[in-house]
Amino acid sequence: MMNVFFRTCRFLAFCLACAALISARAADFKPAQPFLDSAKNVINAHGGNVIFHEGIYYLYGEEKEKGLSEKTHADAGIRCYASKDLVVWHDFGPMLSLTKTDPLSDLAFDCNQDRPKVVYNEKTKTFVMFFKLYLRGMGTNVGFVGVATSPSPAGPFKYSHKFVAGNSPNGTGDFCIFKDTDGTLYHMTVRKPDKAFVAAKMRPDYLLPEGEYKVCKGITFKTEAPCVFKKDGKYYMLASGSTGWAPNAARSFVSDNIFGEWKSLGNPCEGVNPLNGLGPEKTFGGQSSSIIKVEGKDNAYIAAFDINRPEHPYDSGYIWLPIEFKDDGSFKVLWRDEWDMSVFDKK
Ligand code: DGJ
Repeated sequence: MMNVFFRTCRFLAFCLACAALISARAADFKPAQPFLDSAKNVINAHGGNVIFHEGIYYLYGEEKEKGLSEKTHADAGIRCYASKDLVVWHDFGPMLSLTKTDPLSDLAFDCNQDRPKVVYNEKTKTFVMFFKLYLRGMGTNVGFVGVATSPSPAGPFKYSHKFVAGNSPNGTGDFCIFKDTDGTLYHMTVRKPDKAFVAAKMRPDYLLPEGEYKVCKGITFKTEAPCVFKKDGKYYMLASGSTGWAPNAARSFVSDNIFGEWKSLGNPCEGVNPLNGLGPEKTFGGQSSSIIKVEGKDNAYIAAFDINRPEHPYDSGYIWLPIEFKDDGSFKVLWRDEWDMSVFDKK
């Protein structure tokens, strides 16, 4: 009798452990909650993007120095994390560091190095990194595009050059790099000082623009934080308005052509982030940084937002949420307290 009792207890304990495992699994992503790497350290990769190469995802982002603010030059360089499943991330360390010893370098420690985006060029077998660069002591009047390269996704990257984009002496601000299905790369960015949204095709080696920048018809002025993805032959953009570090309402667009005519799809966000009480009007307290394509699943994309905290950017947070496509051709980004990859199976 006692034996049966103990066996039943053991079985119940096993069931409870399984249930705990399943529910742990169900919380692969907890938007706006601490996002830790496999060593339980805060993931320090802001404003970046994720690429997939030979079975591994690589997350690149701005590394911020603990204890410093944006005003006291928190930028330390670009850091990388790697993952097999987008859930467990291993710290791969600095990819491109700012220098404290050479004040004349483009990458002097008190420059501004924002929003890194990495892309692989199959033709040159090179990983090319782009970032928004404001030179030390020169303010934000001229926005350069910095370029660094590496033969390996795990770096280190070597700084190559900078360029002034947009056919404007003031250059550009927030940008995205979109690699089309035929390998053509586009640099898409908000132009200074008029804040029109422009794009240009990059050279086959991806290192410099190939042609003139053209205004993308239909994209609202002052569109920042652009992220572009392609689905069923159409280009989709998720972006923000322009309010510095403060959150504003997200915007989205669709087009058959990179240069437009883009059609506004409105604000795709729905729901409220209970941790700060912010909804679509403030993008849950975040600002778009990139769209992550989930490999091996159909139409599976994650909208990645940063929670900007200019006073202490080191541990500012992230909001990763699935993109859901609607029957009318638009998409939505619904707030979820937690979620897992199975959301992409429920079609
Ligand atoms: C707007 C950008 O979207 C942000 O990422 C950040 O660079 C701020 N500007 C800085 O003011």
